[in-house]
Amino acid sequence: MGRVSEALLLKEHLSGQFALFDGSLQGLDRAEEDTVVSTAHPATTPAKPAQPPTQSSVDINGASYKTDSWFNTPPNIIANVPRRLHLQKDHPVYVTRQIIESVFPAPTYKYHNTFDPVVTTHQNFDSLGFPLDHPGRAKSDTYYVNESTLLRTHTSAHQADLFRANLSPGYLISADVYRRDEVDRSHYPVFHQMEGARSWDRANALGGDVAAAVWSDLEKLPTHAMKVEDPNPPFHAERNPLQDDHHSAAEAEAIGAHLKRSLELMVVEIFSRAARAAKRADPDFVDEPLRVRWVEAYFPFTSPSWELEVYYGGDWLEVLGCGVVKQDLYINAGVPNQLGWAFGIGLERIAMLLFQIPDIRLFWSQDPRFSNQFVGVSDNLDSLKRFVPFSKYPGCYKDVSFWLKSTSAAGGSTKANAHDFHENDLMEIVRSVCGDVVEDAKVVDDFTHPKTGRRSLCYRINYRSLERTLTNTETNELHDRLTQALVEKLGVEIR
Ligand code: DAH
Repeated sequence: MGRVSEALLLKEHLSGQFALFDGSLQGLDRAEEDTVVSTAHPATTPAKPAQPPTQSSVDINGASYKTDSWFNTPPNIIANVPRRLHLQKDHPVYVTRQIIESVFPAPTYKYHNTFDPVVTTHQNFDSLGFPLDHPGRAKSDTYYVNESTLLRTHTSAHQADLFRANLSPGYLISADVYRRDEVDRSHYPVFHQMEGARSWDRANALGGDVAAAVWSDLEKLPTHAMKVEDPNPPFHAERNPLQDDHHSAAEAEAIGAHLKRSLELMVVEIFSRAARAAKRADPDFVDEPLRVRWVEAYFPFTSPSWELEVYYGGDWLEVLGCGVVKQDLYINAGVPNQLGWAFGIGLERIAMLLFQIPDIRLFWSQDPRFSNQFVGVSDNLDSLKRFVPFSKYPGCYKDVSFWLKSTSAAGGSTKANAHDFHENDLMEIVRSVCGDVVEDAKVVDDFTHPKTGRRSLCYRINYRSLERTLTNTETNELHDRLTQALVEKLGVEIR
């Protein structure tokens, strides 16, 4: 069998079957082989328009899936699946991935960049200990294919499989992730994340002393001179508990310290590259000293947990989440002797800072005025330049005001009424009808009639293309179509 068809078959296996990895090395090796083929394959083929959502099956990345009443993934989202920006050489998302990978070197860390985005609810939620009523599971937040299949909402969906496969002490995953979200310059329904983890095996630690082994690995890491605020204790009984059934205080402390140093080194690498790029553009650029701080956090799959914030442009900006992996993940993955840390980071947010990219839609632009600015960067990271905006085209606001469907109204769509209106449903209609020409959509008025109890909303839609000036006729037409789609899909009554 040729490599291409083998890779396609594999893809079908990976995405269509729910037992993604049965622990065999082979599954993962072949997934890696897929990289070689797929950089040239799906990314360059224009996406087939997917069928309307009433169908009983849907094609995603060459595999067919049965749909059911949970199916809520529109064609414009599915069309983005083959783009895989993290695999497009010189793309800012790719370059950001490269820089992060450079801080977590092979062979300690193995890189996985081609996992299929279609995963099971088990992978995305259950395997990570998400409770059944976790809001992330809601149809208003997540793109479902059917009741048990969805487009991953985070790269953590692959953690359990990789722990089970047990291929290397550490790993990095980069991948496209999907979330129903608002429309503005920093949110896009598809974005990219990187996941990292580092594990130690009790069986391999001298005298079983894992804490000593972790400290000794920490000693081998480089140091840095960045200012770090870390005011909290390594764990805290109420706020950020030690998993005391599984870890000694010394173990959790050592793992936390290794995690923090590793991630601080990553931030130093990214932001010193950003500063060098700024200096190349403007020799008078004065580099503000980099400041970061650790804050306590909560994730269902780590404890203790933290977020790392970077002081940037006068504000503390959250850049990643991390923590000591919940021991249940290792136990359920058949490697109960292991313990360690994990983190997850959004690549666009970092790339926007690194390259000074002002609008997240630009990452998806196929305009050569965007892509040509980064040619050659992947082969020479020291040539990294800040993005130079090619133009800011005029924007145009249009408002749409409507009454939400009243609860008693019979017939029509059951999707929305005064009680179950989800803003993300509106946002999705905006994206489906207008594509990338809406810069943001914001509620500007929210009114409930004092007598009837009916609720009305007014949204301001900011039409602005990144690539050209929109004509009045075009904007009016789009706005009319959007208005009509809101009536049809949400059952609202235009005011
Ligand atoms: N998956 C989390 C998210 O998308 C990020 C994250 C937090 C990943 C903590 C991790 C972790 O691996 O340990 O928000």
